[in-house]
Amino acid sequence: LVAGVDSSTQSCKVVIRDAETGALVREGRASHPDGTEVDPAAWSAALETAIDAAGGLSDVAAVAVGGQQHGMVCLDAEGEVVRPALLWNDTRSAQAATDLIAELGPGETGRRAWADAVGLVPVASFTVTKLRWLAEHEPANAERTAAVCLPHDWLTWKLAGASGLDALVTDRGDASGTGYWSTHTNEYRPDLLERAFGRTPVLPRVLGPAEQAGTVAGGALGAAGGALLGPGTGDNAAAALGINAEPGDVVLSIGTSGVVSTVSSTPSADPSGTVAGFADATGNYLPLVVTLNAARVLDATARLLGVDHEELSRLALTAPAGSGGLVVVPYLEGERTPDRPRSTGALHGLTLATSDPAHLARAAVEGLLCGLADGLEAIAALGNPVRRVFLVGGGARSEAVRRLAPAVLGVPVLVPPPGEYVADGAARQAAWVLAGGSTPPVWPATSIEVFEADPVPFVRERYAEVRDMTADRV
Ligand code: XUL
Repeated sequence: LVAGVDSSTQSCKVVIRDAETGALVREGRASHPDGTEVDPAAWSAALETAIDAAGGLSDVAAVAVGGQQHGMVCLDAEGEVVRPALLWNDTRSAQAATDLIAELGPGETGRRAWADAVGLVPVASFTVTKLRWLAEHEPANAERTAAVCLPHDWLTWKLAGASGLDALVTDRGDASGTGYWSTHTNEYRPDLLERAFGRTPVLPRVLGPAEQAGTVAGGALGAAGGALLGPGTGDNAAAALGINAEPGDVVLSIGTSGVVSTVSSTPSADPSGTVAGFADATGNYLPLVVTLNAARVLDATARLLGVDHEELSRLALTAPAGSGGLVVVPYLEGERTPDRPRSTGALHGLTLATSDPAHLARAAVEGLLCGLADGLEAIAALGNPVRRVFLVGGGARSEAVRRLAPAVLGVPVLVPPPGEYVADGAARQAAWVLAGGSTPPVWPATSIEVFEADPVPFVRERYAEVRDMTADRV
Protein backbone atom coordinates (compact mmCIF):
# COMPACT_ATOMS: atom_id res chain seq x y z
CA LEU A 1 0.00 0.00 0.00
CA VAL A 2 1.03 3.61 -0.53
CA ALA A 3 -0.25 6.81 1.06
CA GLY A 4 -0.69 10.26 -0.45
CA VAL A 5 -1.25 13.43 1.52
CA ASP A 6 -2.90 16.68 0.45
CA SER A 7 -2.10 19.42 2.96
CA SER A 8 -4.24 22.23 1.55
CA THR A 9 -5.09 25.72 2.73
CA GLN A 10 -8.08 24.48 4.74
CA SER A 11 -7.53 20.82 5.53
CA CYS A 12 -5.47 17.68 5.30
CA LYS A 13 -6.46 14.55 3.40
CA VAL A 14 -4.76 11.17 3.37
CA VAL A 15 -5.56 8.47 0.81
CA ILE A 16 -4.21 4.95 1.03
CA ARG A 17 -4.13 3.05 -2.26
CA ASP A 18 -2.93 -0.26 -3.57
CA ALA A 19 0.52 0.44 -5.02
CA GLU A 20 -0.04 -1.76 -8.06
CA THR A 21 -3.65 -1.24 -9.02
CA GLY A 22 -4.20 2.20 -7.55
CA ALA A 23 -7.42 0.99 -5.89
CA LEU A 24 -8.54 3.12 -2.96
CA VAL A 25 -8.21 1.19 0.29
CA ARG A 26 -8.77 3.76 3.06
CA GLU A 27 -8.83 7.50 3.56
CA GLY A 28 -8.94 10.07 6.32
CA ARG A 29 -9.18 13.81 6.70
CA ALA A 30 -8.97 16.60 9.23
CA SER A 31 -9.47 20.33 8.98
CA HIS A 32 -7.11 22.97 10.32
CA PRO A 33 -7.34 26.75 10.65
CA ASP A 34 -7.15 28.52 7.30
CA GLY A 35 -6.40 32.15 6.57
CA THR A 36 -3.28 33.68 5.10
CA GLU A 37 -0.92 33.23 8.06
CA VAL A 38 -0.89 29.87 9.85
CA ASP A 39 1.31 28.15 12.43
CA PRO A 40 2.73 25.05 10.66
CA ALA A 41 1.99 23.08 13.85
CA ALA A 42 -1.68 23.23 12.73
CA TRP A 43 -0.75 21.32 9.55
CA SER A 44 1.19 18.61 11.37
CA ALA A 45 -1.63 18.20 13.91
CA ALA A 46 -4.14 17.84 11.06
CA LEU A 47 -1.85 15.37 9.28
CA GLU A 48 -1.55 13.32 12.47
CA THR A 49 -5.37 13.22 12.81
CA ALA A 50 -5.86 12.41 9.12
CA ILE A 51 -3.30 9.57 9.23
CA ASP A 52 -5.08 8.17 12.25
CA ALA A 53 -8.49 8.52 10.57
CA ALA A 54 -7.06 6.66 7.55
CA GLY A 55 -6.13 3.72 9.77
CA GLY A 56 -2.45 4.55 10.27
CA LEU A 57 0.65 3.74 8.23
CA SER A 58 1.72 0.39 9.72
CA ASP A 59 0.88 -1.50 6.48
CA VAL A 60 1.98 1.31 4.16
CA ALA A 61 5.25 0.92 2.21
CA ALA A 62 5.68 4.50 0.91
CA VAL A 63 4.24 7.95 1.59
CA ALA A 64 4.45 11.29 -0.22
CA VAL A 65 3.11 14.71 0.71
CA GLY A 66 1.44 17.19 -1.67
CA GLY A 67 0.88 20.66 -0.29
CA GLN A 68 -0.24 24.20 -0.96
CA GLN A 69 2.49 25.98 -2.92
CA HIS A 70 4.62 29.01 -2.06
CA GLY A 71 4.06 29.28 1.74
CA MET A 72 7.11 30.67 3.58
CA VAL A 73 8.14 28.47 6.52
CA CYS A 74 11.09 29.98 8.41
CA LEU A 75 13.13 27.80 10.78
CA ASP A 76 15.78 28.86 13.28
CA ALA A 77 19.12 27.11 13.83
CA GLU A 78 17.42 24.59 16.17
CA GLY A 79 14.73 23.78 13.61
CA GLU A 80 12.01 25.70 15.47
CA VAL A 81 9.44 27.65 13.44
CA VAL A 82 10.32 31.36 13.65
CA ARG A 83 6.87 32.83 12.94
CA PRO A 84 3.56 31.66 11.43
CA ALA A 85 3.94 30.74 7.76
CA LEU A 86 2.86 33.36 5.24
CA LEU A 87 0.75 31.59 2.65
CA TRP A 88 0.20 31.87 -1.13
CA ASN A 89 -2.99 33.88 -0.55
CA ASP A 90 -1.30 36.51 1.66
CA THR A 91 -0.91 39.75 -0.27
CA ARG A 92 1.15 41.84 2.15
CA SER A 93 4.25 41.37 0.00
CA ALA A 94 2.69 43.01 -3.11
CA GLN A 95 4.99 46.04 -2.80
CA ALA A 96 7.99 43.76 -2.34
CA ALA A 97 7.05 42.09 -5.65
CA THR A 98 6.90 45.47 -7.42
CA ASP A 99 10.26 46.47 -5.92
CA LEU A 100 11.99 43.21 -6.81
CA ILE A 101 10.84 43.48 -10.43
CA ALA A 102 12.02 47.11 -10.69
CA GLU A 103 15.41 46.21 -9.21
CA LEU A 104 16.17 44.00 -12.22
CA GLY A 105 15.37 46.80 -14.68
CA PRO A 106 12.66 49.32 -15.53
CA GLY A 107 9.25 48.12 -16.81
CA GLU A 108 9.39 45.25 -19.25
CA THR A 109 13.16 44.76 -18.71
CA GLY A 110 12.72 43.76 -15.07
CA ARG A 111 9.83 41.44 -15.81
CA ARG A 112 11.73 39.76 -18.63
CA ALA A 113 14.84 39.37 -16.47
CA TRP A 114 12.85 37.51 -13.80
CA ALA A 115 11.00 35.34 -16.33
CA ASP A 116 14.28 34.42 -18.02
CA ALA A 117 16.00 33.75 -14.69
CA VAL A 118 13.41 31.60 -12.89
CA GLY A 119 10.35 31.27 -15.18
CA LEU A 120 8.23 33.60 -13.01
CA VAL A 121 7.60 37.29 -12.58
CA PRO A 122 7.25 37.95 -8.81
CA VAL A 123 3.76 38.44 -7.36
CA ALA A 124 2.76 38.50 -3.69
CA SER A 125 2.00 34.74 -3.80
CA PHE A 126 5.60 33.70 -4.43
CA THR A 127 8.01 32.92 -1.56
CA VAL A 128 10.74 35.31 -2.74
CA THR A 129 8.51 38.36 -2.16
CA LYS A 130 7.55 37.12 1.33
CA LEU A 131 11.22 36.90 2.27
CA ARG A 132 11.78 40.49 1.14
CA TRP A 133 8.75 41.52 3.21
CA LEU A 134 10.17 39.69 6.25
CA ALA A 135 13.58 41.34 5.88
CA GLU A 136 11.96 44.77 5.68
CA HIS A 137 9.22 44.45 8.29
CA GLU A 138 10.42 41.89 10.82
CA PRO A 139 14.22 42.17 10.88
CA ALA A 140 14.52 40.23 14.14
CA ASN A 141 12.61 37.27 12.65
CA ALA A 142 14.64 37.55 9.45
CA GLU A 143 17.82 37.50 11.52
CA ARG A 144 16.69 34.38 13.41
CA THR A 145 15.82 32.54 10.17
CA ALA A 146 18.43 29.87 9.48
CA ALA A 147 16.46 27.89 6.87
CA VAL A 148 13.46 28.50 4.62
CA CYS A 149 11.22 25.75 3.28
CA LEU A 150 7.73 25.20 1.88
CA PRO A 151 4.68 23.63 3.57
CA HIS A 152 5.13 20.21 1.97
CA ASP A 153 8.89 20.19 2.70
CA TRP A 154 8.24 20.89 6.36
CA LEU A 155 5.69 18.06 6.66
CA THR A 156 8.02 15.59 4.92
CA TRP A 157 10.77 16.64 7.36
CA LYS A 158 8.40 16.12 10.30
CA LEU A 159 7.42 12.65 9.06
CA ALA A 160 11.11 11.79 8.79
CA GLY A 161 11.45 12.83 12.43
CA ALA A 162 14.34 15.04 11.40
CA SER A 163 15.59 18.06 13.27
CA GLY A 164 18.75 18.97 11.37
CA LEU A 165 18.29 21.66 8.75
CA ASP A 166 20.49 19.75 6.32
CA ALA A 167 17.82 17.00 6.20
CA LEU A 168 15.30 19.34 4.52
CA VAL A 169 14.27 18.24 1.02
CA THR A 170 11.88 19.44 -1.65
CA ASP A 171 11.14 18.64 -5.30
CA ARG A 172 11.33 20.53 -8.59
CA GLY A 173 7.59 21.23 -8.69
CA ASP A 174 7.41 23.08 -5.40
CA ALA A 175 10.91 24.62 -5.69
CA SER A 176 9.81 26.21 -8.97
CA GLY A 177 7.18 28.26 -7.13
CA THR A 178 9.66 30.00 -4.84
CA GLY A 179 11.07 32.57 -7.27
CA TYR A 180 14.64 31.56 -6.41
CA TRP A 181 14.87 28.21 -8.18
CA SER A 182 15.28 28.17 -11.95
CA THR A 183 13.32 25.85 -14.23
CA HIS A 184 15.86 26.74 -16.91
CA THR A 185 18.93 25.47 -15.04
CA ASN A 186 17.34 23.16 -12.43
CA GLU A 187 19.24 25.05 -9.75
CA TYR A 188 18.68 27.58 -7.01
CA ARG A 189 19.49 31.20 -7.78
CA PRO A 190 21.18 32.33 -4.55
CA ASP A 191 21.88 35.70 -6.16
CA LEU A 192 18.14 36.42 -6.36
CA LEU A 193 17.53 35.14 -2.85
CA GLU A 194 20.33 37.32 -1.57
CA ARG A 195 18.83 40.29 -3.37
CA ALA A 196 15.47 39.64 -1.70
CA PHE A 197 16.64 38.60 1.75
CA GLY A 198 20.16 39.95 2.11
CA ARG A 199 21.70 36.46 2.46
CA THR A 200 21.05 32.83 1.58
CA PRO A 201 19.62 30.72 4.41
CA VAL A 202 19.74 26.91 4.29
CA LEU A 203 17.44 25.65 1.50
CA PRO A 204 15.96 22.18 1.05
CA ARG A 205 17.87 19.86 -1.26
CA VAL A 206 15.88 19.46 -4.51
CA LEU A 207 15.20 15.78 -5.18
CA GLY A 208 14.34 14.15 -8.49
CA PRO A 209 10.72 13.06 -9.13
CA ALA A 210 11.05 9.54 -7.70
CA GLU A 211 14.01 10.02 -5.40
CA GLN A 212 13.71 8.75 -1.84
CA ALA A 213 13.53 11.33 0.91
CA GLY A 214 14.29 8.87 3.71
CA THR A 215 11.78 6.92 5.78
CA VAL A 216 8.99 7.73 8.19
CA ALA A 217 10.39 7.75 11.73
CA GLY A 218 8.57 5.54 14.24
CA GLY A 219 6.24 7.74 16.29
CA ALA A 220 6.57 10.76 14.01
CA LEU A 221 3.11 12.39 13.96
CA GLY A 222 1.87 9.34 15.80
CA ALA A 223 2.57 7.07 12.83
CA ALA A 224 4.25 3.69 12.62
CA GLY A 225 7.71 4.09 11.11
CA GLY A 226 9.48 2.43 8.22
CA ALA A 227 7.57 3.58 5.11
CA LEU A 228 9.70 5.16 2.38
CA LEU A 229 9.19 8.88 1.93
CA GLY A 230 8.79 10.40 -1.52
CA PRO A 231 9.99 13.91 -2.27
CA GLY A 232 6.37 15.18 -2.33
CA THR A 233 5.41 18.19 -4.43
CA GLY A 234 3.18 21.27 -4.70
CA ASP A 235 -0.56 20.72 -4.99
CA ASN A 236 -0.91 21.69 -8.64
CA ALA A 237 1.89 19.36 -9.74
CA ALA A 238 0.41 16.60 -7.56
CA ALA A 239 -3.03 17.09 -9.14
CA ALA A 240 -1.55 16.78 -12.64
CA LEU A 241 0.11 13.51 -11.58
CA GLY A 242 -3.11 12.29 -9.94
CA ILE A 243 -5.08 12.98 -13.12
CA ASN A 244 -2.30 11.46 -15.24
CA ALA A 245 -2.06 14.57 -17.43
CA GLU A 246 0.43 14.27 -20.29
CA PRO A 247 1.91 16.86 -22.64
CA GLY A 248 -0.98 18.43 -24.57
CA ASP A 249 -3.43 17.83 -21.70
CA VAL A 250 -4.75 20.82 -19.81
CA VAL A 251 -6.09 20.57 -16.27
CA LEU A 252 -8.76 23.14 -15.56
CA SER A 253 -9.76 23.28 -11.93
CA ILE A 254 -12.81 25.30 -10.92
CA GLY A 255 -12.53 25.76 -7.17
CA THR A 256 -12.09 28.77 -4.89
CA SER A 257 -9.76 29.97 -7.61
CA GLY A 258 -9.59 28.82 -11.20
CA VAL A 259 -6.36 27.06 -12.11
CA VAL A 260 -5.43 26.30 -15.71
CA SER A 261 -2.25 24.29 -16.19
CA THR A 262 -0.69 22.03 -18.77
CA VAL A 263 2.15 19.53 -18.85
CA SER A 264 4.91 20.68 -21.15
CA SER A 265 8.27 19.20 -22.07
CA THR A 266 9.95 22.63 -22.16
CA PRO A 267 10.24 25.37 -19.53
CA SER A 268 8.37 28.60 -20.15
CA ALA A 269 9.13 32.24 -19.52
CA ASP A 270 6.22 34.68 -19.82
CA PRO A 271 7.43 38.23 -19.11
CA SER A 272 3.83 39.43 -18.73
CA GLY A 273 3.62 37.20 -15.64
CA THR A 274 0.26 35.79 -16.75
CA VAL A 275 1.64 32.27 -17.02
CA ALA A 276 3.78 31.03 -14.13
CA GLY A 277 6.46 28.72 -15.51
CA PHE A 278 6.44 26.00 -12.84
CA ALA A 279 8.01 22.53 -13.06
CA ASP A 280 5.84 19.43 -12.64
CA ALA A 281 6.40 16.30 -10.55
CA THR A 282 7.63 14.03 -13.35
CA GLY A 283 10.61 15.89 -14.77
CA ASN A 284 8.48 18.00 -17.12
CA TYR A 285 7.08 21.52 -16.72
CA LEU A 286 3.72 22.92 -15.61
CA PRO A 287 2.91 26.35 -17.05
CA LEU A 288 -0.01 27.59 -14.97
CA VAL A 289 -2.51 30.45 -14.81
CA VAL A 290 -4.61 31.36 -11.77
CA THR A 291 -7.93 33.24 -12.04
CA LEU A 292 -9.70 34.50 -8.96
CA ASN A 293 -13.26 34.15 -10.23
CA ALA A 294 -14.19 30.51 -10.51
CA ALA A 295 -16.76 28.56 -8.43
CA ARG A 296 -17.74 31.79 -6.69
CA VAL A 297 -19.28 33.02 -9.98
CA LEU A 298 -21.77 30.16 -9.81
CA ASP A 299 -22.37 30.76 -6.08
CA ALA A 300 -23.00 34.49 -6.60
CA THR A 301 -25.34 33.96 -9.56
CA ALA A 302 -27.35 31.28 -7.77
CA ARG A 303 -27.69 33.69 -4.83
CA LEU A 304 -28.73 36.54 -7.11
CA LEU A 305 -31.41 34.40 -8.74
CA GLY A 306 -32.50 32.81 -5.46
CA VAL A 307 -31.98 29.26 -6.81
CA ASP A 308 -29.76 26.31 -5.93
CA HIS A 309 -26.90 25.09 -8.11
CA GLU A 310 -28.94 22.43 -9.82
CA GLU A 311 -31.59 24.92 -10.85
CA LEU A 312 -28.94 27.40 -11.97
CA SER A 313 -27.50 24.74 -14.24
CA ARG A 314 -30.93 23.75 -15.57
CA LEU A 315 -31.78 27.38 -16.32
CA ALA A 316 -28.47 28.00 -18.09
CA LEU A 317 -29.05 25.05 -20.39
CA THR A 318 -32.46 26.39 -21.48
CA ALA A 319 -31.06 29.71 -22.83
CA PRO A 320 -29.43 29.98 -26.27
CA ALA A 321 -25.65 30.06 -26.85
CA GLY A 322 -24.44 33.61 -26.32
CA SER A 323 -27.37 34.26 -23.92
CA GLY A 324 -29.09 36.44 -26.50
CA GLY A 325 -26.25 38.99 -26.23
CA LEU A 326 -26.20 39.18 -22.44
CA VAL A 327 -22.58 39.10 -21.20
CA VAL A 328 -21.30 38.63 -17.65
CA VAL A 329 -17.68 39.64 -17.04
CA PRO A 330 -17.27 37.92 -13.68
CA TYR A 331 -14.46 39.87 -11.99
CA LEU A 332 -16.47 39.97 -8.76
CA GLU A 333 -13.66 41.15 -6.51
CA GLY A 334 -10.95 42.00 -8.99
CA GLU A 335 -9.08 39.53 -11.16
CA ARG A 336 -5.52 38.23 -11.42
CA THR A 337 -5.74 37.06 -15.08
CA PRO A 338 -6.02 39.58 -16.64
CA ASP A 339 -4.37 41.72 -14.00
CA ARG A 340 -7.29 43.86 -12.79
CA PRO A 341 -7.05 43.92 -9.01
CA ARG A 342 -9.65 46.67 -8.63
CA SER A 343 -12.22 45.46 -11.18
CA THR A 344 -15.81 44.67 -10.37
CA GLY A 345 -18.12 42.40 -12.36
CA ALA A 346 -20.07 43.71 -15.36
CA LEU A 347 -23.41 42.78 -16.89
CA HIS A 348 -23.80 44.02 -20.44
CA GLY A 349 -26.45 43.70 -23.15
CA LEU A 350 -29.55 43.61 -20.98
CA THR A 351 -32.70 43.90 -23.12
CA LEU A 352 -36.33 43.00 -22.63
CA ALA A 353 -35.59 39.71 -24.33
CA THR A 354 -32.64 38.83 -22.06
CA SER A 355 -34.01 40.02 -18.73
CA ASP A 356 -34.96 36.61 -17.46
CA PRO A 357 -33.23 34.17 -15.12
CA ALA A 358 -32.26 31.69 -17.83
CA HIS A 359 -30.29 34.27 -19.81
CA LEU A 360 -28.50 35.50 -16.72
CA ALA A 361 -27.71 31.93 -15.63
CA ARG A 362 -26.26 31.11 -19.04
CA ALA A 363 -24.34 34.38 -19.28
CA ALA A 364 -22.74 33.69 -15.89
CA VAL A 365 -21.63 30.18 -16.87
CA GLU A 366 -20.35 31.47 -20.22
CA GLY A 367 -18.55 34.36 -18.48
CA LEU A 368 -16.89 31.99 -16.02
CA LEU A 369 -15.77 29.74 -18.90
CA CYS A 370 -14.59 32.70 -21.01
CA GLY A 371 -12.43 33.89 -18.09
CA LEU A 372 -10.83 30.45 -17.91
CA ALA A 373 -10.52 30.36 -21.70
CA ASP A 374 -8.41 33.53 -21.43
CA GLY A 375 -6.03 31.54 -19.20
CA LEU A 376 -6.02 28.66 -21.66
CA GLU A 377 -5.24 31.07 -24.50
CA ALA A 378 -2.28 32.53 -22.58
CA ILE A 379 -0.89 29.02 -22.09
CA ALA A 380 -1.44 28.16 -25.78
CA ALA A 381 0.19 31.46 -26.83
CA LEU A 382 3.46 30.24 -25.28
CA GLY A 383 3.50 27.40 -27.80
CA ASN A 384 1.79 24.71 -25.72
CA PRO A 385 -0.50 22.47 -27.77
CA VAL A 386 -3.97 22.08 -26.24
CA ARG A 387 -5.31 18.64 -27.11
CA ARG A 388 -8.00 18.21 -24.48
CA VAL A 389 -9.05 19.60 -21.13
CA PHE A 390 -9.59 17.74 -17.86
CA LEU A 391 -12.25 19.56 -15.88
CA VAL A 392 -12.03 19.12 -12.09
CA GLY A 393 -12.96 20.93 -8.86
CA GLY A 394 -16.31 21.83 -7.32
CA GLY A 395 -17.44 23.81 -10.39
CA ALA A 396 -17.06 20.72 -12.57
CA ARG A 397 -20.11 19.26 -10.81
CA SER A 398 -22.34 21.74 -12.65
CA GLU A 399 -23.97 20.07 -15.64
CA ALA A 400 -24.12 23.43 -17.43
CA VAL A 401 -20.37 23.98 -16.94
CA ARG A 402 -19.60 20.51 -18.28
CA ARG A 403 -21.87 20.87 -21.32
CA LEU A 404 -20.93 24.42 -22.25
CA ALA A 405 -17.18 24.11 -21.64
CA PRO A 406 -16.27 22.30 -24.91
CA ALA A 407 -18.18 24.87 -26.97
CA VAL A 408 -16.52 27.85 -25.26
CA LEU A 409 -13.02 26.33 -24.96
CA GLY A 410 -13.11 24.81 -28.44
CA VAL A 411 -11.67 21.43 -27.34
CA PRO A 412 -13.09 18.19 -25.92
CA VAL A 413 -13.58 18.26 -22.17
CA LEU A 414 -12.98 15.20 -19.98
CA VAL A 415 -14.57 15.05 -16.55
CA PRO A 416 -13.07 12.47 -14.19
CA PRO A 417 -15.17 11.47 -11.18
CA PRO A 418 -14.94 13.90 -8.25
CA GLY A 419 -11.88 12.92 -6.26
CA GLU A 420 -8.85 13.85 -4.22
CA TYR A 421 -6.48 14.44 -7.12
CA VAL A 422 -3.74 16.10 -5.09
CA ALA A 423 -3.61 13.27 -2.53
CA ASP A 424 -3.91 10.73 -5.37
CA GLY A 425 -0.98 12.34 -7.18
CA ALA A 426 1.09 12.15 -4.01
CA ALA A 427 0.09 8.48 -3.61
CA ARG A 428 1.13 7.80 -7.19
CA GLN A 429 4.48 9.45 -6.51
CA ALA A 430 4.88 7.20 -3.46
CA ALA A 431 4.15 4.15 -5.68
CA TRP A 432 6.77 5.42 -8.13
CA VAL A 433 9.39 5.75 -5.38
CA LEU A 434 8.57 2.20 -4.35
CA ALA A 435 8.67 0.72 -7.86
CA GLY A 436 11.57 2.80 -9.22
CA GLY A 437 11.93 3.36 -12.96
CA SER A 438 11.88 6.45 -15.11
CA THR A 439 8.10 6.93 -15.34
CA PRO A 440 5.33 6.75 -12.74
CA PRO A 441 3.41 3.47 -12.51
CA VAL A 442 0.33 3.37 -14.70
CA TRP A 443 -2.86 2.99 -12.72
CA PRO A 444 -5.98 2.03 -14.67
CA ALA A 445 -8.01 5.11 -15.59
CA THR A 446 -11.22 5.65 -13.69
CA SER A 447 -14.41 6.21 -15.67
CA ILE A 448 -14.09 9.53 -17.44
CA GLU A 449 -17.03 11.34 -19.02
CA VAL A 450 -16.22 13.03 -22.32
CA PHE A 451 -18.06 16.16 -23.44
CA GLU A 452 -17.75 17.42 -26.99
CA ALA A 453 -19.54 20.25 -28.79
CA ASP A 454 -19.12 22.42 -31.85
CA PRO A 455 -17.11 25.51 -30.92
CA VAL A 456 -19.12 28.74 -30.68
CA PRO A 457 -16.43 31.40 -31.16
CA PHE A 458 -18.90 34.29 -31.05
CA VAL A 459 -19.41 33.72 -27.31
CA ARG A 460 -15.75 34.47 -26.61
CA GLU A 461 -15.63 37.29 -29.16
CA ARG A 462 -18.55 39.09 -27.58
CA TYR A 463 -17.11 38.49 -24.10
CA ALA A 464 -13.74 39.92 -25.16
CA GLU A 465 -15.45 43.06 -26.47
CA VAL A 466 -17.25 43.66 -23.19
CA ARG A 467 -14.19 42.71 -21.11
CA ASP A 468 -12.08 45.26 -22.95
CA MET A 469 -14.86 47.86 -22.99
CA THR A 470 -15.17 47.74 -19.19
CA ALA A 471 -11.41 47.81 -18.55
CA ASP A 472 -11.20 51.52 -17.82
CA ARG A 473 -14.39 51.88 -15.87
CA VAL A 474 -13.25 50.05 -12.76
C1 XUL B 1 -0.59 28.51 -7.41
C2 XUL B 1 -1.23 28.87 -6.13
C3 XUL B 1 -2.30 28.00 -5.57
C4 XUL B 1 -1.85 27.26 -4.36
C5 XUL B 1 -3.09 26.72 -3.67
O1 XUL B 1 0.30 29.47 -7.85
O2 XUL B 1 -0.92 29.88 -5.54
O3 XUL B 1 -2.85 27.14 -6.54
O4 XUL B 1 -0.93 26.26 -4.68
O5 XUL B 1 -2.84 25.74 -2.78
